[in-house]
Amino acid sequence: MSRDTLTIIDNRTGQEYEIPIERDTIRGSELNKIKASPDGPGLRTFDVAIANTATCESRITYLDGEGGVLRYRGYPIEELAEQSSFLEVAYLLVKGHLPSASHFDMWQHNIKMHTLVHENVKHFIDGFRYDAHPMGILIGTVGALSTFYPDAKNIDDEESRRVQTRRLIAKIPTIAALAFRHSRGLSYVPPDNDLSYPGNFLSMLFKMTELKYRPDPVLERALDVLFILHADHEQNCSTTTARVVGSAHADPYSVVSAAAAALSGPRHGGASEDVVRMLHECGSVDKVPDLIKSVKAGERRLMGFGHRVYKNYDPRARIIKKIAYEVFEVTGKNPAIDVALELERIALEDDYFVERKLYPNVDFYSGTIYEAMGFQMEMFPVLFAIGRTAGWVAQWAEMLANQERIARPRQVYLGEDLRHYVPLGKREDRSEQETEITGPY
Ligand code: CMC
Repeated sequence: MSRDTLTIIDNRTGQEYEIPIERDTIRGSELNKIKASPDGPGLRTFDVAIANTATCESRITYLDGEGGVLRYRGYPIEELAEQSSFLEVAYLLVKGHLPSASHFDMWQHNIKMHTLVHENVKHFIDGFRYDAHPMGILIGTVGALSTFYPDAKNIDDEESRRVQTRRLIAKIPTIAALAFRHSRGLSYVPPDNDLSYPGNFLSMLFKMTELKYRPDPVLERALDVLFILHADHEQNCSTTTARVVGSAHADPYSVVSAAAAALSGPRHGGASEDVVRMLHECGSVDKVPDLIKSVKAGERRLMGFGHRVYKNYDPRARIIKKIAYEVFEVTGKNPAIDVALELERIALEDDYFVERKLYPNVDFYSGTIYEAMGFQMEMFPVLFAIGRTAGWVAQWAEMLANQERIARPRQVYLGEDLRHYVPLGKREDRSEQETEITGPY
């Protein structure tokens, strides 16, 4: 008869252990009971990059990487992208269910109440150099918000958590737009709360001398869907960062700033920027085979391809590819899309990519849309962060509600055994080989 347990025999001691299996996982604390000697350390798993360890219980996002399935709170991403709006999805992620019409009105009102930023936030942004990377501006400015809202440190106060959640979702587009206008030397445009969430964002970005900015409905909807698609992705690098920093009971602005810092890396949201850089560098369809060759030779990675969890087509990439053509109807075609399509065509037939199950991910096509809409490449990860803020705050709130302990992983120590301090004047110069281990500082 099958039992939901795992039997382990420790050959060091001959001892047998029976460990419960729950939802295809065993508890790490059970392994800790396995010891070579009663006073010795318990057994641990060695899992670099937390690749095969569940670090939390979550009810927010379901992801089946083999099947290419993504659901927020049970709803398929395709249905949400087709029928919902970003603010509704943000409600869904944070509260766990879709709002009634009256609750949605209230939620929208509550978010809009917080779209303005303190004048000093603008002065803070003015302090950045004209060519500062907007992601650096976003990370710094969101972190700085904790100094404007010291009540945010009251993380045990439900009302405070609620207000900071609204503030974060409301102010992220304002800060992103301030970073954009700063890079262009343009005056700042205050929020227009008559407009939708993405419509107001477009106004804060692109309004010039007109009295009222009227967003193009196709671009407004495209941006809204892109925010939906980026809103959450279970325990990815930045979300894990959010939960880890939050587990120390840091305030939510510090949490979101830390998460955005993780997102900025080129292996994560920073890839959106590098994809378009790569497409431009490649230049034309006839150069695609050379690019593929250099990727296969290990000289570079095909940016926007591959994923730790998806071993199938990323469902978000499929939706984004469709939106690209709707946007190009308005903006004109971005020629980089032809290079992207040819890259995808060749890669999906090539053994290197097929064997490794490398498919286009969310970042592969998004940049071609953003570029056509008038964003410089450095803004792409910032746009990713706007959508993902809803997920970060939902995951942060869930982590607190689950009363998770402070995150504190273990290590396998490979360093020196005990040695004693030698005074500076008595030390020899080290050989070049020895200094290479840590590198010259
Ligand atoms: N181009 C070429 N080869 C690749 C790529 C790629 N983009 N991605 C993975 N591989 C190869 C890699 O060389 C390795 O081959 P081998 O087994 O021969 O050594 C194999 O595939 C497995 O790669 P890995 O680095 O162990 O995979 P990972 O799960 O640690 O990394 C990843 C995932 C997303 C960091 C990686 O696929 C990558 O660097 N992709 C390019 C950057 C990118 O598009 N990032 C955005 C990710 S999706 C949005 C987000 O989460 O932000």
